[in-house]
Amino acid sequence: MPTVFIKTFGCQMNERDSEAVAAQLVAKGYVLAPSELVADVVLVNTCSVRDLAEQKALAKMANIVGVARKNGRAPLLGFMGCMAQSRGRQLVETLPDVDLVLGTQKFHRAAGYIDDLLAGRRDQVVDTDEEPGSQSAIREHLLAGNSGKAVTAFVSIMQGCNQHCTFCIVPSTRGAERSRTLDDIVSECRELVGRGVREVTLLGQIVTSFGKREIPVKDGKSAFVQLVEAVHAIDGLERVRFTAPHPKGYGDDLVEAYGRLPKLVECAHLPVQSGSDRMLKLMHRGYSRERYLGIIEKLRRVQPGMGLTTDIIVGFPGETEADFEDTLSLAREVGFDQAFVFKYSQRKDTPAAAMPDQLPEELIEERHARLFEMINRIAAAKYEALVGRTVEILVEGPSRKNAGRFQGRTRSNKLVLFSGSERHRGRLMDLRIERTGSFTLYGDPAVVGMDDATESAVTTEPGLA
Ligand code: 5AD
Repeated sequence: MPTVFIKTFGCQMNERDSEAVAAQLVAKGYVLAPSELVADVVLVNTCSVRDLAEQKALAKMANIVGVARKNGRAPLLGFMGCMAQSRGRQLVETLPDVDLVLGTQKFHRAAGYIDDLLAGRRDQVVDTDEEPGSQSAIREHLLAGNSGKAVTAFVSIMQGCNQHCTFCIVPSTRGAERSRTLDDIVSECRELVGRGVREVTLLGQIVTSFGKREIPVKDGKSAFVQLVEAVHAIDGLERVRFTAPHPKGYGDDLVEAYGRLPKLVECAHLPVQSGSDRMLKLMHRGYSRERYLGIIEKLRRVQPGMGLTTDIIVGFPGETEADFEDTLSLAREVGFDQAFVFKYSQRKDTPAAAMPDQLPEELIEERHARLFEMINRIAAAKYEALVGRTVEILVEGPSRKNAGRFQGRTRSNKLVLFSGSERHRGRLMDLRIERTGSFTLYGDPAVVGMDDATESAVTTEPGLA
């Protein structure tokens, strides 16, 4: 059977889409190849959120074409995902070796198209059309994990975004918000737990908008909170996460859920984008600095050890030094456990691309470096403060980067390495943190040789606020 290799750029949603395509191909008998050098089919799953991401994917494909030619090979080549959606036919015009361009509503059609192309029934496929119901088609899983069975899994719950932030290309690459049904998501999660999964991460471009139009608010609980509750009730599941929410989706019902649902881990990725009210308005974010800080305060009141991460854009059009200092002060005030700092990138057909006062590259670079330094300093102190403390981790399997060690994550999503073995996989363990590395903790079992006892001795991270 033909072999296939998928290279993925971008977010967790893209990783999940790639996994679903891989599962589909494996089910048809395709074999996963260890690298693009030997595969019969090479797919590049793309990201469009910043220009750099697009350039990386284009360079990767050009390189794959060059190396294949040199080696006298002609694999079937495809682009899929966000850049495939936004550039469409233009991709096969600039890179004629590409056979397949698959948009964001077409992942479930990948295997059919690849079969057709390999069999010579078609010469080339470019399909970026809308397809009603496609959000429900991303449900197959491979679950191979890192040399063994997967303990954690991503579950796609909705697609698209209606927020229309002025900098963001996602509404055009992923389309309008479409949710799967609650029952379908819960049955997928149940199935995953049956296959050994202990933690699920509910995924979507704006998960807090899940089911907004279809599922009425019940007892003050939004459709999203109702979904979290339903997943939480699955026996054998240990942890529930989700990403990415919108801060405006953090109503009291969701804040309160953190106090009430023990499997809902103390962790929130709350993209703030800027600390300046003027910028937030121009970005069309739908909240003020004060409202954002209010949400953080409420979350910390319910869960003092809440792990908080964020996304920030520097150099949005018209950002003054004073606006930027508002972002610095917000970052200082919140004290994020980790933050992704992005240099503003002009995206095609977005309102911000046409705004006056686009900032020069050097200024964006300089602000990025200042904020990046501050974020890392604060985050390092947060990690350092855990040394000597006991944390609960869910053991995922062997470490990806550090051979010989096992890895797990704390409830607040911090990576922990320890000398474990296969028998620890999928278990909740208490570890004492011995030292820190860059966004990594190194731990030792808190009660040596008493693995069974540690399973019930569950503690959460102490308050760090
Ligand atoms: N420029 C820079 N960063 C962007 N993001 C989205 N669009 C842009 C853009 N045009 C960032 C936001 C978002 C994250 C996924 O990517 O911070 O939260």
